[in-house]
Amino acid sequence: MATVAQRIDGYDLRIADSAEELAHAVAEALAHNVSQVLAQQPRFSLALAGGHTPARLYHLLASEYAQRIEWSRVHLFWGDERYVPADHPTSNYRMVRETLLASLRLPEGNVHPMPTHPAHPEAAARLYEQELLAFFGGFPRLDLVLLGMGTDGHTASLFPNTPALWERERLVAVGEAPTEPKRRLTLTLPVLNAARTVYLLVTGADKAETVRRILREGAPLPAAQVCPQEGERVWWLDREAASAL
Ligand code: 6PG
Repeated sequence: MATVAQRIDGYDLRIADSAEELAHAVAEALAHNVSQVLAQQPRFSLALAGGHTPARLYHLLASEYAQRIEWSRVHLFWGDERYVPADHPTSNYRMVRETLLASLRLPEGNVHPMPTHPAHPEAAARLYEQELLAFFGGFPRLDLVLLGMGTDGHTASLFPNTPALWERERLVAVGEAPTEPKRRLTLTLPVLNAARTVYLLVTGADKAETVRRILREGAPLPAAQVCPQEGERVWWLDREAASAL
């Protein structure tokens, strides 16, 4: 699926004609990225985005592209999670279970959901932090992070003007969303910006103005603050989301 590459003020963009074509293009790029990394190391760590945008991508990864990725060597993490039970309709884990995991047989030890059973999300954040430190043997450097963006420019659960966005010590913070479910868990910017590769996936005309503000005006919204120090960042847009550029 063809995309048009464009570079605007330091942002690498890939623009597809439709959300469907975007999903195929990202699946193709992800499969290529995984095979390149697995040629150099035993495991691949992938952090998944929540929300609606990536659902089609996850379906493709579990079907047309399932054989293109050596899933037994891929470890799944979450970039953020709503602080609800794992079977709650708004759970990002549930969305991934229904789209990606339902038909992919990953070893159980490869799936690292954010815990939402502790009474307090702060305790859950600390648990996930320990899981990341144990897996990476130190500061987590994820091989690839998938992110979405809200119309307010939030990404993961780093919402504008919230403490989680300003967190620079912790690896996992408690996010505060303006809409229910308000309590979230989220990777913090230090973790996102330590990644080897970050793919931001944005589709739909409703996000075009936010995309323009970030890419054309440098608006310091949360999604604009994802800039891996030593990694690659690609903004994957459909034509609608890129329509105000
Ligand atoms: C979440 C996501 C969040 C999402 C954006 C975009 O838990 O909701 O992680 O950051 O990526 O809100 O959501 P849509 O893809 O539904 O527009």
